[in-house]
Amino acid sequence: MKNNIYWTLNGRQLCDLELILLGAFNPLESFLSRADYESVIENMRLSDGKLWSLPITLDVDDGFVQNIEKGSKIFLKDKEGFSLASLKINDIWQPDLKNEALLVYGTTDTKHPGVDYLLNVGNNNYISGYLEKISLPRHYDFLDLRHSPNDLKSLFKARNWDKIIAFQTRNPMHKAHYELTKKAMLEISANLLIHPVVGMSKPGDIDHYTRTRCYQHILDEYPKDSALISLLPLAMRMGGPREAVLHAIIRKNYGCTHLIVGRDHAGPGVDSNGNAFYGPYEAQNLLSNFQDEIGIEIIPFKFMVFIPERKEYLPIDEVKDDENYETLSGTELRQFLDEGRDIPDWFTFKAVSKELRASRPPLNKRGLTIFFTGLSGSGKSTLANGLLIKLMEEGSRPVTLLDGDIVRTHLSSELGFSKDHRSINIRRIGYVASEITKNGGIAICAPIAPYEIDRDFNRSLISELGGFIEIYVNTPIEKCEQRDAKGLYALAREGKIKEFTGISDPYEEPINAEIVINSSGKSPNKLVEEIYEKIVNMGFIEEVK
Ligand code: PPS
Repeated sequence: MKNNIYWTLNGRQLCDLELILLGAFNPLESFLSRADYESVIENMRLSDGKLWSLPITLDVDDGFVQNIEKGSKIFLKDKEGFSLASLKINDIWQPDLKNEALLVYGTTDTKHPGVDYLLNVGNNNYISGYLEKISLPRHYDFLDLRHSPNDLKSLFKARNWDKIIAFQTRNPMHKAHYELTKKAMLEISANLLIHPVVGMSKPGDIDHYTRTRCYQHILDEYPKDSALISLLPLAMRMGGPREAVLHAIIRKNYGCTHLIVGRDHAGPGVDSNGNAFYGPYEAQNLLSNFQDEIGIEIIPFKFMVFIPERKEYLPIDEVKDDENYETLSGTELRQFLDEGRDIPDWFTFKAVSKELRASRPPLNKRGLTIFFTGLSGSGKSTLANGLLIKLMEEGSRPVTLLDGDIVRTHLSSELGFSKDHRSINIRRIGYVASEITKNGGIAICAPIAPYEIDRDFNRSLISELGGFIEIYVNTPIEKCEQRDAKGLYALAREGKIKEFTGISDPYEEPINAEIVINSSGKSPNKLVEEIYEKIVNMGFIEEVK
């Protein structure tokens, strides 16, 4: 039997392992065994009857399970190759993932992030066994805000705190959250633990560095020494009611006596038909059945709204029929930021709004990728070069051109034109463009990029970090061949170049392009002007009045 087998943990598994090793997932001492898994998904209980609501499992791929058997000892490593734990294997099984999705999340719709992980991201095999700690995962950020359950309990004790309300969050805190936590503290004379999730949350959430700076600003607003921040490296599943139960168990383990549960707690948003996955107060209802068993009291909160006339926040059910109230949704907040408008003072604290503006600059100051695609000879390079000059002239951000030929010389010189190699090439371009975009620059890319799947991959990657505009240069193949500036079409027709796009290799027409260029009869200058105009109209360049 091999004794150096290791599994490299992905982000979610790393978070799960950390919480097991810290004792935050008490009573779990390892990833769930098969018997516990089956019992948890069916009954929300471990096989010994203890309450446990979400399956914390270790998924591995088919190749990996071929190398292990019951009794094997494997090592669990982080991405840098550090061993964090060993696992003596007891169970290896293939779960029915759809059944798991249905029982745990009540749906198989992959718009649910928890379901998406099960059906599209994770692996088909689960393993479990006896887990032994080697080292906790390393962190380099906000070390004074990271605590084990014992650390926090000691801190509470040292401060003589005996009633502690936990506030779970994956978003920045604004005045509504401040008011509701303060109200809860006053009502039961308790202290507050701001306990944000900094492991993994809903895709698209604000990064935890920005959020943590926001929490630090908010902390200054509470009476001195009445509140604390601790960062929780939990990988959320966005599992609504069942996840709320887990949140309560975790907070009990950290020594909290109360947990605030608001509207749509741990909610994954809407399904493919636009309907909410869970009812707004479903999490509160489920959790209320278990608070005694867990030993933590739930403080249910209704949606908080601002009453301009009274200049105060109230739970929505306390607003009088004839009173006006204000709210700002996440979408509206993003709109304020995108347009560079000031966020209203009633909504958030100035210091928080400054952090948010820095993390999401207005569109005309944000990083951007302009991704041209089209056949060889379609005019991509000419237009990309023209646009490069126009954007340098405008001067709001540094601009980099990643033309097909430049990339093939400097980044992809070993690659050919097979489907796999083209895919690697396009994703490399996407990676470089994503870094430029993340750091506030403009990347102009101009490869053929013949496959939708690779273009889409780049779109998803880059849209998280800044703007993404796809420009399809829709020049017909006949025209490209007629131009044949490099003589490649002739060689392709003669069969001297294989896998030539448009001749002997496919080009999948873009279906999501923001801009489509039909170049017939227009000069390149005119076309560059038109593209530039469109980018201005989309808000990415400031309009010169
Ligand atoms: S891809 O598919 O996006 O990875 O291609 P790209 O990196 O843009 O490279 C395309 C340029 O390489 C030359 N060339 C070929 N193109 C298509 N198919 C085959 N088989 C091929 N062999 C060489 C061609 O000059 C392309 O340049 P552009 O600028 O598109 O004309």
